[in-house]
Amino acid sequence: MATHDSTKHEADYPLGHSDEEARRLAAQALQLEGFTEDVLRRAGLRPGLEVLDLGAGVGDVAMLAARLVGKNGKVVGVEQASSSIEIAARRKPGSTTSPSSLAI
Ligand SMILES: C[S@@+](CC[C@H](N)C(=O)[O-])C[C@H]1O[C@@H](n2cnc3c(N)ncnc32)[C@H](O)[C@@H]1O
Repeated sequence: MATHDSTKHEADYPLGHSDEEARRLAAQALQLEGFTEDVLRRAGLRPGLEVLDLGAGVGDVAMLAARLVGKNGKVVGVEQASSSIEIAARRKPGSTTSPSSLAI
């Protein structure tokens, strides 16, 4: 029977999932926040929508999307690194997680 080894895929990700990379992603997201919000609005994000964020990292774009869709919308972030999901969940109290996803 075939098995899925998520650590193999994590190892393949060139930028890695260190604490330093998590901090870099968060700093980058802050710097690009206005641009990213504009892109998401132009893509049609609005209150009430349900959004899937593939490769959510430590959750910056997912959290921004969650602000745009509001309390009647929903964002699910899928991420191969469970360590990144754990960081994202700590940054967004009230979110629910599995080892590979974050729901806001
Ligand atoms: C640039 S980083 C995170 C960007 C993130 N959206 C943000 O807001 O900062 C890209 C992420 O995609 C994840 N990733 C790449 N391929 C993936 C896959 N096949 N399944 C799940 N996550 C994946 C990596 O582990 C990495 O954390």
